Amino acid sequence: MAEIIAILNQKGGCGKTTTAVNLSTALALLGKKILLIDMDPQANATTGLGIEKNEQNITIYSVLTGQNTLQESIVNTDIPDLQLVPSNISLSGAEIELSKTIGPHSILKESMDGINDQYDYIFIDVPPSLGLLTLNSIVASDSVIIPIQAEFYALEGMADLIKAMDLVETRLNSPSPIKGILLTLYDSRTRLGRDVYNNVKEYFGETEYIFKTTIPRNVRLAEAPSHGKPCIVYDEECSGTVAYQKLAEELLKLESLGG
Ligand SMILES: Nc1ncnc2c1ncn2[C@@H]1O[C@H](COP(=O)(O)OP(=O)(O)OP(=O)(O)O)[C@@H](O)[C@H]1O
Ligand SMILES: [Mg+2]
Repeated sequence: MAEIIAILNQKGGCGKTTTAVNLSTALALLGKKILLIDMDPQANATTGLGIEKNEQNITIYSVLTGQNTLQESIVNTDIPDLQLVPSNISLSGAEIELSKTIGPHSILKESMDGINDQYDYIFIDVPPSLGLLTLNSIVASDSVIIPIQAEFYALEGMADLIKAMDLVETRLNSPSPIKGILLTLYDSRTRLGRDVYNNVKEYFGETEYIFKTTIPRNVRLAEAPSHGKPCIVYDEECSGTVAYQKLAEELLKLESLGG
């Protein structure tokens, strides 16, 4: 059975998609079978993997609205062992449509029946909001990774995110514990970087796991999507690539320890 992990933080631009794409790729290159589900109408994970978002007839939108099965929506990427459920802008209308159906929070989870045993990991790239697309992603996942950008307002909104996760656990009886907190766009040499790290440690350190791997600010990570390639294959040696490879190894190690 696949482990299903949502990459989550309603704060925009904190590195969710960069993490989803590059962690998925790193694990696929280590021989794991990976599915990445793009739950964001911006479709950055889709584009970043070189899939033309406007040419997809079947997307996560058609799955959530009951026109297609998840299996039908899966496309191959250039990376063997990494498959994608694409998104496009039509998904932006899904929240309203979903809100009219019964059990609107569980539609993604239900759509995943029967595909779990084909993969080792299924990652969900979540949009920057706390709406129904995000709640569906939390309900569908076994655990979440929260990327946090090392900036002054890093923890702003975190209480709302934790509250949403608690509500999913208690009201929908669907716990999705934090697998790990990931520091992104991080520079340990700056005062700000160290301050944010300490704040995150203070906030989560007692109760939650903070990945030892941090993701540095690296321009190659930002360039790669415009070439339709994960950074890991775009530049095999840059610091961003090395960091995501380390993160993949840390995740596998956590699993082997039962974390
Ligand atoms: N470690 C990094 N170094 C340099 N640039 C980065 C890094 N991580 C992400 N970026 C860039 O910052 C921007 C935001 O990153 P990304 O799209 O991964 O964030 P996000 O959380 O998915 O955003 P959104 O909330 O809009 O979905 C992108 O242009 C991306 O290329
Ligand atoms: Mg994103």
